[in-house]
Amino acid sequence: MQNFTYCAPTKVIFGRGVESQIGTELRELGATRVLVHFGGGSVKKTGLLDKVIASLTEAGLSYVEFGGVEPNPKLSFIHKGIELGRAEKVDFILAVGGGSVIDSAKAIGVGLVTGNDPWQYASTGTHPERNEVFPVGVVLTISAAGSEMSNSDVITNDLITPWVKQGITSETVRPLVAFLNPENTFTVSKFQTGCGIVDIMMHTLERYVTGQDECDLSERIAEALLVSVREAGRVAIAHPDNYEARATLMWASSLSHNDLTGCGKIRKFPVHKLEHPVSALHDSISHGAGLSVLFPAWAQFVMKYDIPKFAQLANRVWDCPMDFDHPERTALAGIEAMKRYFTEIGMPTHMSELGLTPDEYDAIIDLTTKGGTRPVKSYIDLGPDEIRAIYALAE
Ligand code: NZQ
Ligand code: ZN
Repeated sequence: MQNFTYCAPTKVIFGRGVESQIGTELRELGATRVLVHFGGGSVKKTGLLDKVIASLTEAGLSYVEFGGVEPNPKLSFIHKGIELGRAEKVDFILAVGGGSVIDSAKAIGVGLVTGNDPWQYASTGTHPERNEVFPVGVVLTISAAGSEMSNSDVITNDLITPWVKQGITSETVRPLVAFLNPENTFTVSKFQTGCGIVDIMMHTLERYVTGQDECDLSERIAEALLVSVREAGRVAIAHPDNYEARATLMWASSLSHNDLTGCGKIRKFPVHKLEHPVSALHDSISHGAGLSVLFPAWAQFVMKYDIPKFAQLANRVWDCPMDFDHPERTALAGIEAMKRYFTEIGMPTHMSELGLTPDEYDAIIDLTTKGGTRPVKSYIDLGPDEIRAIYALAE
């Protein structure tokens, strides 16, 4: 087990009707004027925004609305939020939405508290000072990215060509409070539900198959989460308003990316590093869909370096019988079973299903490896040749 620090400071308020507590909770956290941040309109359609505003008003808090965040949140829009937040002298940001809205809110907070362009941190791998924390809260509407408890903030710079998608990793961007009502996810489409299931699984899997194998407890927590998500995912896709299934996915979204399943393990996240350039260059590709294609291909490419762990995963999560004489067969069977599951929940597993053709690969690889100078760290360094081989496995 590696040394680790575990700190998950976000207060989670979970269950039906929790919206009514938003105003009082925020007031206790010191909020007086709140920037209410949301996306393309789903929260208006469902009536959630009205409930949020009623709760703020009841608690005597003033607010300013700032909607319109697009999936894969853009820097140009974040700049507008920083200007608005400054002009309106807000002292709290409440993200009402999914990962994109939350990450936009986090970035606006970084801009407001530091006085710097958040891209400065994303592009250089640096982060704000420890005390530079702008209070951000979340009312989650989709179970997926885990940003409601994570220390990460993924934004896309649309002010440069080609667009670049990059994360700020910092304890300063963990939300202070998250209101998680599974009912607010009943309206998520089947496709976005599928994307969310894959992303939740990935945040745990990227902490599981890392090439470092001495952390039995974390692995068993991870396996329990994966099995639970696998089953709840099936139910939520078939019955979008099944409360228990949606509740499982929502809590798993948070636990999968708040570092719980990674305690004592190393963190590299190679498949996320392969995916982010894909959705940066192709804005219409959802993060979860990109992962659904890339993870099985990556796994197939690297499994030879970690047969015991991939076989264990296959056996304990994907119910593949263990072939002790040929564990590599078990490992491969697990990857195949995962692909079948992704197909079952409507997710793509081939590059062509993302609308990607081989003539576009070089541009994506160029962005992924910064012109071939920065391989993606995995079991082995993944440079242009290795990434091309992974793409080939996903064709
Ligand atoms: O914009 P609206 O109208 O709200 O529609 C959204 C959006 O079109 C819709 N949606 C959300 N809740 C809904 C709903 N539709 C109906 N009913 C609801 N209740 O779903 C669409 C996708 O929303 P988005 O927020 O983009 O999804 P997600 O939560 O998957 O977030 C994806 C973003 O998070 C980043 C991804 O890269 C991507 O940019 N990530 C952030 C992470 C983090 N900060 O820790 C980690 C992840 O690995 C990921 O990279
Ligand atoms: Zn992710």
